[in-house]
Amino acid sequence: MSKNKDAIRELYEQYGVDAYYENNAHRYKNPHLPYIQALLRQNESRINYQKILDLGCGHGEVTRTLQKMGYQNMTGCDPYTHLYYTKKTKQPCFNFGFKEILKGQLTGEYSAIIASFSMHLCEEKELYGLTYRLFAHSPTLVVITPHKRPALEEIQGVELVLEDFVLTDEKGKKVFLKSYIQKI
Ligand SMILES: C[S@@+](CC[C@H](N)C(=O)[O-])C[C@H]1O[C@@H](n2cnc3c(N)ncnc32)[C@H](O)[C@@H]1O
Repeated sequence: MSKNKDAIRELYEQYGVDAYYENNAHRYKNPHLPYIQALLRQNESRINYQKILDLGCGHGEVTRTLQKMGYQNMTGCDPYTHLYYTKKTKQPCFNFGFKEILKGQLTGEYSAIIASFSMHLCEEKELYGLTYRLFAHSPTLVVITPHKRPALEEIQGVELVLEDFVLTDEKGKKVFLKSYIQKI
C-alpha cells in the first residue's frame, strides 16, 4: 500500500474508504513514517504522551514510535486494522471507528488523542460531532496530516495551539502536526 497521495485517492474513489481498508488492512504501510516519527520526536516537550489514544491507528505507526521513545500507555482505535495493531504493539485497541465514537462508544480519559493520517477520512458533516466527542475524553487533539484537511481550527470553539511541519521533498511538500484544545 505504499502508494502516492493521488493513487490512494483514486483507490478511495474507486472502492470507497471502508471497502478499501476492509480489503487491504493486512498490507497497510505508511511511506511517510519517517516524517511521523520526526514530528512526534520534535514536539515531545509540547505534547503530553503519558496516555495516548491512537485514532485510526493502522499498524501502530504512532504507538510504535512512542514506544521507541520510552512511553508505554497507548490504546489504539481502528475498525479495520485493530488485530494488526494489537499484534505489533501489544497494546489494547478499540475495534470501531468514527461512527461508533459519534454514538458515544469511546471510553477512557487520555492525555492526548493523536489522529495520524486518519481524521481526513471522517466525512465533513460528521467532523464537528466527532471533534466534540473526542474532547470529552482528552484536553488535546493532535492531527498529523499531509492535507489541509481536517481543518479543525474552522470549527467554532476549537483553538489551534501548535502547528509544526516537516518537508517531504525539495518542492516544499509538507506533513503537518497540529495540536488543538477547546476554547474556554
Ligand atoms: C492512512 S491510514 C493511517 C494509519 C496510521 N495512523 C498512520 O499514521 O500510518 C488510515 C487509517 O484509518 C483507518 N480508518 C478508516 N476508516 C476509519 C473510520 N471510519 N474510523 C476510524 N479509522 C478509520 C484505516 O483502517 C487506517 O488504519
